[in-house]
Amino acid sequence: MASKFLPDLTSKLSLNDSVSIRSFCSYLGKENFVFRQLFDSVSSTYTYLLGDAGTKECILIDPVLEQVQRDFQLVQDLNLKLKYAVNTHMHADHITGTGKLKNLSGCKSVISKCSGAQADVFVTDGDEIEFGNYKLNVLSTPGHTNGCCSFYLKDLGIAFTGDALLIRGCGRTDFQEGDPETLYQSVHCKIFRLPAETLLYPAHDYKGCTVTTVDEEMRLNPRLTKSQDEFVDLMKNLNLSYPKQIDKALPANKVCGLYNLPEESK
Ligand SMILES: [Fe+2]
Repeated sequence: MASKFLPDLTSKLSLNDSVSIRSFCSYLGKENFVFRQLFDSVSSTYTYLLGDAGTKECILIDPVLEQVQRDFQLVQDLNLKLKYAVNTHMHADHITGTGKLKNLSGCKSVISKCSGAQADVFVTDGDEIEFGNYKLNVLSTPGHTNGCCSFYLKDLGIAFTGDALLIRGCGRTDFQEGDPETLYQSVHCKIFRLPAETLLYPAHDYKGCTVTTVDEEMRLNPRLTKSQDEFVDLMKNLNLSYPKQIDKALPANKVCGLYNLPEESK
């Protein structure tokens, strides 16, 4: 599967390496399928552009406010039309670019019904998000927040796991509606039941890794390979610091990221 990627960064990086700049990673798996993995170095967030070059429809998953111009420029450069700006959940570590993208492109915003955030389209487990000839299956994967979703593109064997499952890690469960038992069940009963070779793309990475697989995480994830009781104990004792941007990110993300922004940023 790695041959589908240019460049294949994961084969050259150990998990302890750190790189400050990651930009695009192309997916060449299927005719007309467009894939770009974009990175925001301040919040270590990945934004994904998925498109159908035949019909020109595309979507962005987890856009970051400060990177909207970059993302929208890329959409235009590739002659695509943005249909949806989708969030895997209501983020606490950055302000979403969804609202600004709506203003720029006329796209619709999408988020889980359980997120507590505003959006044009609410999704729930079993729904489909269509763009061109492709569709994402919505998997409800709560535990980091109540509204966390993963998105599975079955035709291509790829999934976007948000903060539910990170590469050799997982999202924290100590704020918003975080609940370690729920997260453990989401990962084991939803994500780990996808085919073993499924490529998984997380919402963040802090060490330079870009992609993993179900098989890798089932064997090697240091948290999710534990028993549920051990996992819960570990997650309750991480003693992480308070997220830096949470106080401005949550109110803004409840309203598509357009809360309290200077007029010129909208
Ligand atoms: Fe998050």
